[in-house]
Amino acid sequence: MGSAITGWGEALPDHVVTNDDFAARLDTSDEWIVARTGIRQRRMGGTTSELAIDAGRAALKVADLDGADIDLLVLATTTPDQTIPATSSAVHDALGCRGGAFDLNAACAGFVYALVTADSLLHAGHHRALVIGSETLSKVTDQDDRSTAVLFGDGAAAIVLEAGARDELVLAYDLGVDGAATPLLYADHGGYIHMEGREVFRRAVRAELESIENVLSRAGVRPDDIALFVPHQANVRIIEAVNQRVGLSMERTALVLERTGNTSAASIPLALAEAADAGRVAEGDLVLLSGFGAGMTWASAVIRWGRRGLPR
Ligand code: UT7
Repeated sequence: MGSAITGWGEALPDHVVTNDDFAARLDTSDEWIVARTGIRQRRMGGTTSELAIDAGRAALKVADLDGADIDLLVLATTTPDQTIPATSSAVHDALGCRGGAFDLNAACAGFVYALVTADSLLHAGHHRALVIGSETLSKVTDQDDRSTAVLFGDGAAAIVLEAGARDELVLAYDLGVDGAATPLLYADHGGYIHMEGREVFRRAVRAELESIENVLSRAGVRPDDIALFVPHQANVRIIEAVNQRVGLSMERTALVLERTGNTSAASIPLALAEAADAGRVAEGDLVLLSGFGAGMTWASAVIRWGRRGLPR
C-alpha cells in the first residue's frame, strides 16, 4: 500500500520587506543582495503557530478534508513559539486534528525529514498526515546585522499525505547530519542566528550534491527523469552550483526565494506548493526534494507525484 500528497497550501505574512528597506538603514544595497543571494524581498510577521494553522487549513481545503480526518501532525520548525510545549499542540487544537502531533527540528532539512517520518508512520498504520514547515526566522535574526538580516524571512507551507494509493510516494530518501559543524550556524536560546556564510555555502553545495547523488542512485533514476527539483531556498547561487554539477536544469527547478528569502523548514514546501498550484507537476512525475541547514543537517527524497489508487 502506497501513499500520496493530496493537498498543499501556504501562508505568508502580509508585511513585505524589500532590499531597499534594508538599504535605507544598513550598509547594504539591492544590487549586493540580488547578486549574492537572488533574494529581492521577504515577508515578516505572525507567529509560527498562526502561519502553520493557515497553511494547514489551505492544504486541507485542497485535499477536501477536515482537521478531524488527520490522525498525525508533524510540524517542522526551528522557531517554535515557546520552548515548552511543542508548537504543533496549538496547531493540532486549532485545526481539530486527531491522533498525535509533534515538532521536528532539522533546520532547513526539516521538511524532508518530516515528510519521510510521516510517510513511514502512514506505512505503520496511520491514515492521513498533515506535514507542515513553519518559521518565524525574523525573530531570531538581528535586524541590524547586514550579514544575516537580509537573508531570512517568515512563512509556512503544508501538505496532506494520505495512505492507500497504489504507488509508493517516497521512492528513495537520504537523511544526514554532521554535528561537528554546528558552530558554523546556530542561535542560542534568546539569541540571534550566527552564520559563517562562506563556509556554510561551501558545505551546502558539497552535502546537497552527495545527498542528491545518493538518492537518485537509490531510486534508480537519472537527473533527466526528474520533472521538478525543489531545493531549499537559501541562495540561488547554491542552487545553480548544485544543478550544474548534477545536471538538473533551472527550468525544471522550483524557486520562491526571490520573494520569500530563506524560510528554513518552510522553504521546500513553499516552493512545492507554488509549483503544484502552477500545474508544474503531473500524475506520475518524479520530484526531487533536497535541503541543507544548521546542525548541519541535510535531506533529499525522490517522490512520485499523483494519487493513483486512492479511493476518493
Ligand atoms: O539555510 C541554511 C543554510 N544557509 C545557507 O546556505 C547560506 C549560505 N551562505 C550564503 O548564502 C552566502 O555565503 C552569503 C549570502 C551569506 C554571503 O555571500 P558571500 O558571497 O559568501 O559573501 P561573503 O560572506 O564572502 O562576504 C563578502 C563581502 C564581505 O565584505 P569583505 O569582507 O569582502 O569586505 C561582507 O562583509 O560582503 C560583505 N557583506 C555584505 N555587503 C553588503 C555581507 N553581507 C552584506 C550585505 N550587504 N548584506
